[in-house]
Amino acid sequence: MTATAPGRILILIKPDAVTRRLTGEILRRIEAKGYGLTALRVTTPTPELLAEHYAEHVDKPFYPGIVEYMTSGPVVAAVAEGQRVVEGVRSLMGPTDPTAAAPGTIRGDLGRDWGTAVIENLVHGSDSDDSAEREIAIWFPELAR
Ligand code: TYD
Ligand code: MG
Repeated sequence: MTATAPGRILILIKPDAVTRRLTGEILRRIEAKGYGLTALRVTTPTPELLAEHYAEHVDKPFYPGIVEYMTSGPVVAAVAEGQRVVEGVRSLMGPTDPTAAAPGTIRGDLGRDWGTAVIENLVHGSDSDDSAEREIAIWFPELAR
């Protein structure tokens, strides 16, 4: 029987997590779940790159806050792969609001509301296979398919 080809996901460890030295903890959870890292880079994104990455949010009231937040320090960008990796990593992350995210999730265990204009929630993970391919092409052009 032939196995299904593994999926890919773009993960960002956001500046709040890098500043708080949580990079290892977050990557540890993703690896411990069984997903493999296939790319890893530390970078401070430009506003132009963020406008591409967050194309669906550029017109939202919180978008200027996203740019301020995401350019406030380095981000760790990673690609992980495995069967149903988008579903699996999103499950590990928990929902957008860290206060509401369940304990056991990355956002639920490590995040909280700091009263900032934008929700600081430590981590980004692509929300579908199509978004993953779109986002991987932005952050890792050499891996575009
Ligand atoms: P979104 O893609 O909806 O969430 P997720 O990261 O869980 O996929 O939103 C992107 C980011 O925008 C989110 O991580 C934090 C920020 N954001 C806000 O600050 N306020 C909001 O009301 C929403 C929806 C998002
Ligand atoms: Mg999203």
